Amino acid sequence: MSDTKKTADPCVMVIFGATGDLTKRKLFPALYNLAKEDFLPHTFAIVGVGRQEMTTDEFRKLVVANFKEFLPHPPDPKLLKWFEERVYYTGGDFDDDKKLFPDLKAMIAEVIVAHQIPENYFYYLATPPDLFADVAGKIVKSGLGKEENGNWRRFIFEKPFGHDLESAKSLNANLLKILKERQIYRIDHYLGKETVQNILVFRFGNSIFEPIWNRNYIDHVQITVAEKLGVEQRGGYYDSAGALRDMIPNHILQLVTLTAMEPPVSFEADAVRDEQAKILHAIQLLTPEGVLKCSVRGQYGEGKIDDEVVPAYRSEEKVAPFSNTETYAALKLSIDNWRWADVPFYIRTGKRMPEKRSTIIIQFKQAPFILFRDTPVEKLTTNRIVIHIQPDEGITLHFGAKIPGPIVNMGAVDMDFNYLDHFGEQVSTGYERLLFDCMIGDATLFQRADMVEAGWSIVDPILDVWKALPARAFPNYPAGTWGPKDADQLLETDGRAWKNIVD
Ligand code: BG6
Repeated sequence: MSDTKKTADPCVMVIFGATGDLTKRKLFPALYNLAKEDFLPHTFAIVGVGRQEMTTDEFRKLVVANFKEFLPHPPDPKLLKWFEERVYYTGGDFDDDKKLFPDLKAMIAEVIVAHQIPENYFYYLATPPDLFADVAGKIVKSGLGKEENGNWRRFIFEKPFGHDLESAKSLNANLLKILKERQIYRIDHYLGKETVQNILVFRFGNSIFEPIWNRNYIDHVQITVAEKLGVEQRGGYYDSAGALRDMIPNHILQLVTLTAMEPPVSFEADAVRDEQAKILHAIQLLTPEGVLKCSVRGQYGEGKIDDEVVPAYRSEEKVAPFSNTETYAALKLSIDNWRWADVPFYIRTGKRMPEKRSTIIIQFKQAPFILFRDTPVEKLTTNRIVIHIQPDEGITLHFGAKIPGPIVNMGAVDMDFNYLDHFGEQVSTGYERLLFDCMIGDATLFQRADMVEAGWSIVDPILDVWKALPARAFPNYPAGTWGPKDADQLLETDGRAWKNIVD
């Protein structure tokens, strides 16, 4: 992980899927934010590649219009002009190696001369995942993937990286036939979030938390990634993926590994990723019986969010009317190592929950009651640390305090750290850091092949059981609620409960 401000090498960024949703909502806004903070190299250009036929001029107009629509604040006209001067476009069919790739090669040649850029290129594959190997293969075949004369070529692959263990393995194997691992950047935008990166600093940059960060003090961990939105325009993709594939092997397992890992020997990419990988390997794989006991799936029906009626999942655009795809998944995971034995990690994610909120809750064990036997205190406040990933990024410590008065009584209080109050507004999409890291060749916050595969190994047994036993009671939670009853049961059986309202 880069700890000092490095300057990114002058380079060309090539975006496949340049007219898509991700490019306009996340990638261009992230590039804008980087440019604004002077993190982009001054000699830089972007070549957009898409199926749509369009001239560079038309693409420039589109990029400017998208900046205006998707940046949270009105863009600076000088920066817009800067982008306009260095954005290019080439269109065509991604299958067509006779036209698109020679066109792209010619365009890059033109761009590097016009902007005096050395031949450093990085390709962002914001395409459907089934095209990753093919498009990367065609880039390499056209000679645009070869690193020579000290110049680099890097490839960023969006998630999902495969749709199960087998497909992820085969994608890794195919990419490794044509690229070196160090050229491959498997992105997970959760690792670009400040609060996610802060987990490591919080744990390992302070001396007071690590000694209690283990089974001796921690009762359990809860990770929630709740979304208010439904599937929007992504019904086609989502209906074949589902909540488990979409969120767990990637985003949520990243949160689990950062919360649970041992201190790495340094912030070097492989030192951090080795420790994360060890956690992934220590997560107990579920047997079919274990899947029935430790997993819950749900699908939203019609319901109300913010007093507005929203449709059931099955009525969303491009979703099958009798779809059995889950929009909610909850799991109880066990990490088989000395630090975490018998400390369950409960994780859950869902669409159409009452609010958008991602949190990691470290729930500590109760203190012994002894001292309070002869007081009116009936229940001790249990301590927890809440890491607020989003929104209201920050950390809360929850503990008990004496309520003022002549008798001993106890109330629950919070100590809060909020990013906004301390560091001011940081406009970020989560992609800034990751794009910058790719430009400086730092892969710490990207997934390695073994990590992706380990993630899928955890999820695969659940996918198998869920496929063999299709859900019978869908939809099983109304939109605007915290998920199916069975998910509450998952914790109640263990004498615990989800914390829905984080206070
Ligand atoms: C994406 C998923 O990777 O992450 C989406 O495909 C999900 O379904 C999104 O909505 C959540 O990201 P964030 O940053 O809004 O929490």
